[in-house]
Formats: sequence, C-alpha cells, structure tokens
Amino acid sequence: MQWNFQEIHSQAQTEAQGINNLQALEAFRLKYLGKKGLVAAVFASLGQADPGHKSLIGKGANDLRALVEGLIAEKSIKVNSAKILEEQVDISLPGTGEALGHMHILTQTMQEIISVFEQMGFVAIETPEIETEFHNFTGLNIPIDHPSRDAFDTFYLDAEDPSAKGRRLLLRSHTSPGQVRIMKEHKPPMAVIVPGRVYRPDAVDASHSFMFHQIEGLLVDERVQFSELKGLLTEFCKRFFGPRVIMRFRPHFFPFTEPSAEVDINAEILGIQRKKWLEILGCGMVNPRVFESVGYPPGKYKGFAFGMGVERMAMLKYGINDIRLFYENDVRFLKQF
Ligand code: PHE
Repeated sequence: MQWNFQEIHSQAQTEAQGINNLQALEAFRLKYLGKKGLVAAVFASLGQADPGHKSLIGKGANDLRALVEGLIAEKSIKVNSAKILEEQVDISLPGTGEALGHMHILTQTMQEIISVFEQMGFVAIETPEIETEFHNFTGLNIPIDHPSRDAFDTFYLDAEDPSAKGRRLLLRSHTSPGQVRIMKEHKPPMAVIVPGRVYRPDAVDASHSFMFHQIEGLLVDERVQFSELKGLLTEFCKRFFGPRVIMRFRPHFFPFTEPSAEVDINAEILGIQRKKWLEILGCGMVNPRVFESVGYPPGKYKGFAFGMGVERMAMLKYGINDIRLFYENDVRFLKQF
C-alpha cells in the first residue's frame, strides 16, 4: 500500500478548518485516531510493506498522529468556548463598564508644575533617590559638620558609597543633588527641572512627612540675575494658582545659594484658613562654590536655583489641609481629584 502523506496532511488541515461544533470534532477524531481510523490503518499496513519503506511509513504515521492531535487541541478550545458563550452568556445584554482609575493627585500636580516650566523652556530630568554624601551635601557647600548630615536628619543606608571609602549612601534629603549631577555632566547654558521624592526623618503631622516630593529648578548661563529668578517664579505662581495669588519673597539662608530667599503663598486668599502664609519653596543665586565643586571655570557662569514642595503646592491649590491624606490611599479622598 502506498501512502501520500503530503496529501493526507493537507486534507486533515482543510477538514479541521471546517469544524465548528463538538460532533464534528469527534467525527474528525474518529476518522484519524479511532480504532478503525487512518493512523491505525497506516500502522497496520506496515506488515506487508517493503522492508526498505517501513521506517518512512512509521514516521509518516507518527507525524500524522501528532498533526491531528494538535489540530484537535486547537479546535477544542474554540469549539468549547463558543459553546460556553452560547449557553451561559446573553450577548445581547449591555456590558458592565470597568471602573477606570486615574492619576494620583500628586502625580497630576507634578505634571502640571512640570508642564508650566516646560512651556517656559525648561527640560525635566530625573536623578537618583539614593545619593552620595557628595551630591547631597559636600558638592552643595554643606560642610561635613553640618547638623543636617546627622543620622537624625538623614536616612543613611547600610551600604558604602563606592566612590568614597568609609562614607555611606543615603536617601536624598532634597532634589538639589540633581543640580550637582546635571552640572557635572552638562555645560551651560541650561534650564532644567528635577522632580522626585525626598526623605527626611521628620515626625509626621498635618504638614510634615518623612517622604515627600520636590521639584528642583536650575538655570545657568553667563549672565543671570536675581530679578529673572523673581520674575520666573512670579509668573509660574500666576500660571499655576491663577492671577489672584499673593506671594512674598522672604530672605533666607541656604549654603548652596547666595543670596537666598523663601517664597510664601498667602493661604487665606486661596481659602485655606489654617495659616496665613504657607512656605512653598527655597531659591537663590547659585553659590560660586557649587560651580567650583562641579568643575566650572571660576567666574564664568551665573545661575539661579529653586526647590519647591509638591505636596504644599497641591494643598494650596486644591484646599487640602492635611498632608497625610496624600498617602493613606483612601479612595474617598483620591476620587475627589
Ligand atoms: N533644597 C532646598 C530645601 O530642600 C531648597 C532649595 C533648592 C533652596 C534650591 C535653594 C535652591 O529646602
């Protein structure tokens, strides 16, 4: 007996395509794999076969069985699910919509702030949350004996800084280390913002948290003035809070800016009664010592920097009076924004 396996294979494939119910699937199985099926017939023919052809015929029978088993497995999934659909689902009923989530109010606020600065030509860059003492402190002119380096004020990791023997890595306490990283890698002119999480072992209360978000800003060029910083932040606050916002610049001190200021927003005007003024950011002209620490030639560049608290911005804009609400994941709160 001669078998044309090629033809048998393509015939089985064509037949399988037409199967659309369980009965047809069973008939197909019997035709090929049943006791009196084709595979059995091929094996039976081995007895009379020419000794030289036996192994080819055996292989042909095995291949055919594998092919048919595969086709049956494939078809049975389709046929069974079609049957389940028919029996259990009334496809004419309207569907139940999935409840869609949305971005957390803090993410929304960050994106809003970023987009205002992007419209003014700034580029957003993220830098690491795990930092070295150099980036978080030394490069920013914060001396080695400064109290904010204490374990009480900073989260230190149980891991040595690979670039400084005996010094440990830490969770950044502000986004300002982003200034040092970016200046080390890029030459001015530059206008960047660095959004991200920062960590301080503060006791948690209505306005403090051990983790919160900041957005750092840095602009460096050959001629930059404090009035430009003031103008930029004033314009930013108007765009973010709306034209009725009242803000004030208050002299302050930061080791990495000179002169320095803090900006407060009048909370009463925005309808938050808890306090008249709420501090939203620190800022100032980049201290020449910072330029020195990133290797810029002395006297060549000027710049300004600022760092704002994202939670505070959201609290003022949306009338939220407790910072803890952001992190409790209570949908009754989250749904409101
Ligand atoms: N890093 C400062 C803080 O966290 C804020 C700041 C940033 C001040 C940039 C001046 C310039 O308090």
